[in-house]
Amino acid sequence: MDGAKKTNISLAGLLELVETSTLSSIKGTVGGILSLISDPTASSSDLIKLIELDPPLTAKILRVANSSYYATSKTIGDIQQALIWIGFDTLKEIILTQKMSELYRGGTPVGGYSRLQLWRHSLGVALLAKTIYRREFGEKGNNAYAAGLMHDIGVIVEDQLLHREFMHLVQVLEDIPQPLTDGENSCFGYDHGLVGKGLAENWNFPAELIDGIGFHHDPEGAREEHRLFVKTIFISDYLMFEQGYGYVAMPLPDREILQQYVRDLGLQWYALRAIIEIVREELGKIEQKGYLIA
Ligand SMILES: [Fe+2]
Ligand SMILES: [Fe+2]
Repeated sequence: MDGAKKTNISLAGLLELVETSTLSSIKGTVGGILSLISDPTASSSDLIKLIELDPPLTAKILRVANSSYYATSKTIGDIQQALIWIGFDTLKEIILTQKMSELYRGGTPVGGYSRLQLWRHSLGVALLAKTIYRREFGEKGNNAYAAGLMHDIGVIVEDQLLHREFMHLVQVLEDIPQPLTDGENSCFGYDHGLVGKGLAENWNFPAELIDGIGFHHDPEGAREEHRLFVKTIFISDYLMFEQGYGYVAMPLPDREILQQYVRDLGLQWYALRAIIEIVREELGKIEQKGYLIA
């Protein structure tokens, strides 16, 4: 790509770097939560055991649980109370969100890109994918939330570990419009889907999540049994960009692809529009308390 610096770090080399970087500090708790989410027999005592392994987490969970977003009439003083007042599923989401948010702090905005914008985008995709599963498919959507939240984890890996090259790429995208994945392929020889997929495999994430992260820009490449799941992430990603919750300057793929996936999932546009409104409202509430709670 014109003007882009090439990097010499291979995908395998980058994934090795992840393991020795601070990024890997979230691995234990995130992996544990993802197993709980995908295990229908998991109980709240498994969750409590997991929280106990990460002492600073309790205080953070309670801070989020007592924020205006989850406002209940009572002050939540411990995890048992949080389980009662907020519920097992929401608590799992809070923990995953809290741990993931640790990766998106700091950094300096370049053009339209910042870690905060990427985090806001990820939250939007998570909420949209979950709400589609809840309202349209009658499922809890915890996996869809997790995949939405983590789908662009490869971007934050590039930002953190290939920082100079990634910032340069973001700048180039402002001047030469093209899909982020094209720019990454020219600059790095791989894109953030592949980086995220490699990380998800190394960290033993559930197979559905590996595909959700790895193929969110190319759902047809996913295993057949996960394709509808991955298309939900694609649709949510596309719609959040379209709604102004993107994080980098880039043209969106042909809208016909979006239309096709919406048909494949049997979704109606009026239902999707209602869901987008719900998500915009949720994001508005989250924005009021701050996207990144310390
Ligand atoms: Fe992406
Ligand atoms: Fe995305």
